[in-house]
Amino acid sequence: MPRVKLQRFTDNATRPDIIEPGKPEYQQLGGRWRTDFFREPHPLTLEVGCGKGEYTVGLAQRHPGRNFLGLDIKGERIWRGSSRAAEIGLTNVGFVRMRAEDLAAQFGPGELSEIWITFPDPRPRDRDIKRRLTSPRFLGLYEQLLIPGGLLHLKTDNEDLFEYTLEILAARLGTTIERVTRDLYAETASEFIEAQAIQTNFEGKYRSVGVPIKYVQFRLT
Ligand SMILES: C[S@@+](CC[C@H](N)C(=O)[O-])C[C@H]1O[C@@H](n2cnc3c(N)ncnc32)[C@H](O)[C@@H]1O
Repeated sequence: MPRVKLQRFTDNATRPDIIEPGKPEYQQLGGRWRTDFFREPHPLTLEVGCGKGEYTVGLAQRHPGRNFLGLDIKGERIWRGSSRAAEIGLTNVGFVRMRAEDLAAQFGPGELSEIWITFPDPRPRDRDIKRRLTSPRFLGLYEQLLIPGGLLHLKTDNEDLFEYTLEILAARLGTTIERVTRDLYAETASEFIEAQAIQTNFEGKYRSVGVPIKYVQFRLT
């Protein structure tokens, strides 16, 4: 393993804002994130597949009265988010290294107020449909962990994944789509300002080459 990557993994092991397998807290925080991990028991927002954590950190900066957690399987990426949060001095943000598939083991029912899914891997092959982070399997998991009526947001560059997601939401009983756009940055309505306010690493790359960003905000009631 390259030395820099190894050093980052070593850093992660000692950083209190990073929870990962091997740390005792990894087994203990389910149902108690807000009270036992964060300084204040504010409502908790989770970003699934946070990569380098720009979005989680950006949200935490914008909303000091809320708590934010970025989840990703890649330790080196969350190291960056954690480093940035420390530079800014944020105390309402943390990171968890885990697979989204294991969410139900790490969070209690109704523990989350909001979920952001930002530029998920599109998984275009039919045999990978179940691995899409907006497949019925994942929506079921999110519903368990959200407060009743909790908000979900998807941002993506990928047309196929976006249309797939809208079809799944339309077919799902009790789902309410609050906002939807196939070109987020062409929107001038104030209801899109929050989703336009922060960009992820991938979002910046796609925008710089003119790819329209798709966005949907919904509730699984
Ligand atoms: C295309 S990147 C997007 C990263 C970031 N959200 C952004 O927009 O810059 C997808 C991220 O999701 C993570 N990821 C993919 N599948 C995952 C899973 N099943 N559980 C947790 N993280 C996952 C990857 O490690 C990667 O960092």
